[in-house]
Amino acid sequence: MSGLKVLVVGASIAGPATAYWLAKAGAKVTVIERFATLRTGGQAVDIRTAGVSVMRKMSGMEVQVRAKSTQEEGVCFVREDGRPYGIIRATGNPDQQSLISEYEIHRGDLANILHGLTKDNKNIDYIFGEQVASMQRNDDGPIEVDFANGSAPSTYDLVVACDGATSRTRAIGFGCGVRDHVVPTNTWAAYFTIKQDLLQGSKLGQGYNAVGGRFLSLGSESGSSTVMLMSVQPRGKGDSTLPFRQASSHGDLLLREYVAKHFRGAGWKSDVILRGMMHSEDFYASEIVQVKIPSFYNERLVLVGDAGYAAGATGGGTSLALTGAYMLAGELSKHPGDLAAGLKGYEQQMRPIVKEMQKIPPFVSTILAPQTAWGIQLRNYIFALVAWSGIAEFLPKYLGSAFARTDDFPLPDYDWKKTDQVD
Ligand SMILES: Cc1cc2nc3c(=O)[nH]c(=O)nc-3n(C[C@H](O)[C@H](O)[C@H](O)COP(=O)(O)OP(=O)(O)OC[C@H]3O[C@@H](n4cnc5c(N)ncnc54)[C@H](O)[C@@H]3O)c2cc1C
Ligand SMILES: *[C@@H]1O[C@H](CO)[C@@H](O)[C@H](O)[C@H]1NC(C)=O
Repeated sequence: MSGLKVLVVGASIAGPATAYWLAKAGAKVTVIERFATLRTGGQAVDIRTAGVSVMRKMSGMEVQVRAKSTQEEGVCFVREDGRPYGIIRATGNPDQQSLISEYEIHRGDLANILHGLTKDNKNIDYIFGEQVASMQRNDDGPIEVDFANGSAPSTYDLVVACDGATSRTRAIGFGCGVRDHVVPTNTWAAYFTIKQDLLQGSKLGQGYNAVGGRFLSLGSESGSSTVMLMSVQPRGKGDSTLPFRQASSHGDLLLREYVAKHFRGAGWKSDVILRGMMHSEDFYASEIVQVKIPSFYNERLVLVGDAGYAAGATGGGTSLALTGAYMLAGELSKHPGDLAAGLKGYEQQMRPIVKEMQKIPPFVSTILAPQTAWGIQLRNYIFALVAWSGIAEFLPKYLGSAFARTDDFPLPDYDWKKTDQVD
């Protein structure tokens, strides 16, 4: 595939990872990102299963991820008055992770590491503050792309959309709306840091459930608290995240107010957390969705990461993004001169993994965020059982595939040297 000219859209996780592997396979890559800089916000994401295997194939990445890992020892689930009833710890074995990942890292740190691994590669260019305005294709030829903010129009052999779950590039390339193929999970979450360290340096995080499917979690980090507020509504009650999305469309302040209103009176440390949220400098909130689309590519546009298969609150999204980047480049290099065969190979490799990783374990809605006081009691009871019974065996069975062992998803090996790569 050497000599392929590729446009990658989005510089978060999937985008830089895709650029890394495509360049290794000999392609010339341009990465565009809508924002003016690399976005460093967001809370922790996990690298699991096949994502761990891909990371280990990217030179120097695992060491950098370890150096930046949040190193949470576990999460202690507490009652309203703060008394603990169960602790879930990391297993200490990155190849068989529990609810707590050995490779938990802030999303922004991971984006930085991936950008750092690729930005000096002479076959990769980054352009910030840019997005696709339109794409055209004449017959079987390359794609002509017009840009929205000043870059000269150009043609590419392939465009890779890595611009997240509500990908505009997908909408343009598949001729659909941005919310087509988006499957709501009736969940949203807000992530932010507050100045006060409510856990006084403890590396054991805390989690608290309030009625109405509200979950609050706290971590401690260099004198501050990292907070996640999650709202999970039962399914089958219509589009319960609509009010959240509407608030979100009215800007940051209204969104914070919406989140505050939703969590008011939740108990535990919610008052101090909500006050801190209003002044937080890194507030980020997002609906948590899945993307389910019949094909991961359409002619010469292909989807990698959340744009193609956002996994929702399963813990598998980042790992899928890393795996997709590797598979796409690998399959293209396996079929030199035959893009269609390469794309088909990518689809065939990824489809079963995506299917597994998108299974939302019953755990998420019934256990992590029970709706009623009775549900919380039951959850606490189950948690105590899980915590006592040795989670390593328990979790994969009840939590889903993101908690499977690394070698449950073996990666094919590709012969990168076949292409005249320049490292
Ligand atoms: C700011 C931010 C914070 C996040 N925080 C968390 C978190 O706390 N916990 C968690 O589990 N997951 C979080 N996520 C999601 C998580 O990063 C992804 O689920 C996963 O890592 C897969 O990443 P991705 O690269 O496929 O998509 P994303 O991480 O969604 O990245 C998409 C990228 O494309 C860019 N983009 C969007 N539209 C366009 C466009 N039209 N043209 C060009 N570029 C575009 C975006 O700015 C972004 O950089 C966050 C994502 C972002 C962007
Ligand atoms: C457009 O590009 C310029 C630099 O070329 C940048 O300063 C600006 O932020 C970009 N605008 C948008 C809307 O991204």
